[in-house]
Amino acid sequence: MVDTLVWITGASSGLGAALATTAPFDDARVVSISRSPGPDGTEHLPADLAEPVAWSAVETHLLARLTGFDGGHAVFVHNASTLDPIGFAGEVDSPAYRANVLLNSAAGQVLGHAFLKAVAESGFDGRAVLVMISSGAATSAYPGWSSYCAGKAALDQWVRAVGEEQRSRDTGVTVLSIAPGVVATAMQEQIRATDEADFPPVQRFHELHDSGRLRDPEDAARDLWAVLDRDLPSGSVTDLRS
Ligand SMILES: NC(=O)c1ccc[n+]([C@@H]2O[C@H](COP(=O)([O-])OP(=O)(O)OC[C@H]3O[C@@H](n4cnc5c(N)ncnc54)[C@H](OP(=O)(O)O)[C@@H]3O)[C@@H](O)[C@H]2O)c1
Repeated sequence: MVDTLVWITGASSGLGAALATTAPFDDARVVSISRSPGPDGTEHLPADLAEPVAWSAVETHLLARLTGFDGGHAVFVHNASTLDPIGFAGEVDSPAYRANVLLNSAAGQVLGHAFLKAVAESGFDGRAVLVMISSGAATSAYPGWSSYCAGKAALDQWVRAVGEEQRSRDTGVTVLSIAPGVVATAMQEQIRATDEADFPPVQRFHELHDSGRLRDPEDAARDLWAVLDRDLPSGSVTDLRS
């Protein structure tokens, strides 16, 4: 019997894959929402989340899965993100910039809304948790990452506002934003491969790597799951480094 339903966007790689393999729930079903499949043992809901049409399919899926589900936990982690195209606004490729904005700024808000709606409409009465994976880029302005920084800031502010809504309705749903710190994933490899002209702070990321300060994805994932045990108030925005 399945007691916990877990959805992770972008569980095909990096932190998302580590979150899938370390999910600390007995009898859990983990669904990866991404273009390529997640780790063995996860179910794959194929979706290009930079395409708005995919958001409706996820909303339909969430309501179908939660309707009649009588397990104890439902957890949705919005982790999928991209740095592409790294470079300055006004210089990079326009379709790629548009896709970045849709994935980093819009998808999380729309999917977060879809999860909350599915929880409410399905009558699910276990513990529901919604987590947005954030970044230090939500508060530090990095030249070359304009839409990534803007997207993470948008998610943090969405969590603050929606958290207040959930508290005022006493829904019991916990909405959190968690920044994972610097983690050894494909995203960091991509950063280090970038030309300084497109991303002037690149040297700092070489130094973090060369001095061994990137975290192992599974360690970061375990710390991230542990935040859920801290009973933080809905609307909390936190960083694993603090
Ligand atoms: N690594 C770090 O140091 C670091 C630091 C701060 C914050 N973060 C955050 O941590 C999260 C995970 O990053 P990561 O480092 O693990 O990156 P990653 O290894 O590049 O993985 C990114 C994931 O996002 C998915 N994704 C990308 N574009 C997508 C799209 N259009 N539709 C659906 N899924 C898409 C990818 O899946 P598919 O390609 O299969 O679709 C992949 O599973 C991100 O939110 C990132 O901003 C990472």
